[in-house]
Amino acid sequence: MKQSVKLIVGNWKMNGLGASLAEAEVLKDALEADPAACRVVLCPPATLIERMARLLGGGAVETGGQDCHDEPSGAFTGSVSAEMLADAGARLVILGHSESRASFAETDAGVAAKVETALAAGLEPIICVGETLEQRDAGEAIDVVSRQIAGSLPVSLTGQPFAVAYEPIWAIGTGRTPTLEEIEAMHRAVRAAMLKRLGAGGAAAPILYGGSVKPGNAAEILAVPEVGGALVGGASLKAEDFLGIIRGT
Ligand code: 13P
Repeated sequence: MKQSVKLIVGNWKMNGLGASLAEAEVLKDALEADPAACRVVLCPPATLIERMARLLGGGAVETGGQDCHDEPSGAFTGSVSAEMLADAGARLVILGHSESRASFAETDAGVAAKVETALAAGLEPIICVGETLEQRDAGEAIDVVSRQIAGSLPVSLTGQPFAVAYEPIWAIGTGRTPTLEEIEAMHRAVRAAMLKRLGAGGAAAPILYGGSVKPGNAAEILAVPEVGGALVGGASLKAEDFLGIIRGT
């Protein structure tokens, strides 16, 4: 089977001020001088999207958002719509991240509604799923992510560009990662759930792994069957670390 280009996404979470754009610039310059073998995206906080998108110019590094509201506009104080992200220069958006699911009590149906709104705004959604440590220890990991996929992926994704990110919650920001065998088993289960939900429409979208991806473990994780890229938190904040991951693809 043809090996498609990996998708490496940096999620800055609630980190980054104007001065942090210098890191994005270092990344851009490095990848323009020596192009990556993969597709690279940075998702800064909403306040930096417009400046970052302008700086990056949609070239070697694309810009994405970290969340959006499920309504296109209206009286939702503090929220950002998909259309606003696109207008600011985002091309992709992370949806259903475990931190958003926890902070905003997001349901799978709520995530699916956000995906619909993102697609309508022309954004490429990156839909996150993942189990807690308790669920893993109880042997429920595959059931949990399969349920999340069935509920969070609307059928309108068929034929649209999108990605799914498998992020075991216990691996996020902890320095712990599943074994390569565990990652392979979970990614195979995620693919099966995508095919069940979307038929052939679930065959091509990349499945990213996320959770404590670092320069030192990226290459071996990215070589696991069905790992189509990485969603990187802490190690995407510094260009040098992020480049170490990108160069491993
Ligand atoms: P870390 O890479 O910091 O573990 O974060 C992973 C993550 O949540 C990316 O969305």
